[in-house]
Amino acid sequence: MAVKSLDDLFHETLKDIYYVEKKLVRSIPKLAKHASSPELKDALESHLRETEMHVDRLEQVFNIIDRRPSAKKCEAYEGLAKEADEVIEEIDDPEVCDAAIAASAQTIEHYEMSRYGTLATWAKELNMQDAAELLETTLQEEKAADQKLSALAEQHVNHRAAA
Ligand SMILES: [Fe+2]
Ligand SMILES: [Fe+2]
Repeated sequence: MAVKSLDDLFHETLKDIYYVEKKLVRSIPKLAKHASSPELKDALESHLRETEMHVDRLEQVFNIIDRRPSAKKCEAYEGLAKEADEVIEEIDDPEVCDAAIAASAQTIEHYEMSRYGTLATWAKELNMQDAAELLETTLQEEKAADQKLSALAEQHVNHRAAA
């Protein structure tokens, strides 16, 4: 793969986040299943529904740039997912596990926010306003999901874990 232009870089980065979103559609249910707090379970399940739309929006962006949707393995995500799995397996106390699940989910949200922020900026630079709007819409949902997890952690999960 030779990246020679910002267009190429945009396409490669799109494949990276497409990989992440597709993986998340399968891994968020696993996190939700292991969460014991009903609030945390709800937050993860509602973000799963948003994540399915994120996949759909990315497919629309591939369409805009006249490429078929394809995923490229994202090593950063693989590392984050591995850490999340370890947390689930290693922590026995359900409340402490919830605090860890919320923290792991937020780490992934931050990765997504970084990708969508960059892609939306590049799309504007490349005069692709429709693509920029799709990416910006998802970026706002990732930010909202992150804030919801922060609020949950502060209001419920962390207190229970510390008790
Ligand atoms: Fe997403
Ligand atoms: Fe997300």
